[in-house]
Amino acid sequence: VTALTVPGDLAGRAVVITAGPTREPIDAVRFIANRSSGRMGFAIAAAAAAAGARVILVAGPTALATPPGVTRIDVETAVEMHAAALHHAADSDLFIAAAAVADYRVAAPADHKVRKADAPPALELVPNPDIVREVAAMADGPFTVGFAAETHDVIDHARDKLTAKDLDMIAANQVGAGLGFEVGENTLEVIWPTGRKTLGPMTKERLGEALLALIGERFHAAR
Ligand code: CTP
Ligand code: CA
Repeated sequence: VTALTVPGDLAGRAVVITAGPTREPIDAVRFIANRSSGRMGFAIAAAAAAAGARVILVAGPTALATPPGVTRIDVETAVEMHAAALHHAADSDLFIAAAAVADYRVAAPADHKVRKADAPPALELVPNPDIVREVAAMADGPFTVGFAAETHDVIDHARDKLTAKDLDMIAANQVGAGLGFEVGENTLEVIWPTGRKTLGPMTKERLGEALLALIGERFHAAR
């Protein structure tokens, strides 16, 4: 038991977490994706399950093992993640959006492999639903935590997202060359409407525990 262990007060709470990238098909063999490893979301899920919460992890494609005690729902696209997340968020206490959701999908993916000679000059994209924004807007919905992965002006962009999406809390980190995605150590600037705290630098596994402890505190303060 370390100082970062989550207080037992999330025991029995229903927690829904999104994690990992999404894949947006171009044709039968190609897709658009991003550099998310899923480690942060899986670490939060592990910490929440260890704290006695009932955890549903809605996961895009990752190379990670399911943490003990976690119910995992595998999805591939943002639209699939949206459906699973909204369904389970409806009767959850906490919703944590750690996924790197593709903002756009290909308008009309081909169901066969497209030959290079037949490739269109450009891909037509259409916007994906904003999952965490919709959860935050639910009447009587869960305490909602978002992430903001930014390459610059981290705090300003994170505050804007906290407000624009009407979130209860946001965890911001700087990404880019050697930072954030695909690396082990990370720092989070956690912001909520009345406060702010820096967590790290530490491994994503320890950050998951520290962030969940802070979420637990704010969750109880807000209720
Ligand atoms: N998110 C989501 N659904 C989306 C896009 C983002 O749930 N379709 C969530 C992410 O999981 C994260 C938060 O919204 O918790 C912020 O994601 P981010 O990509 O940083 O913000 P966007 O609003 O998409 O803005 P932009 O990409 O332009 O910075
Ligand atoms: Ca985005």
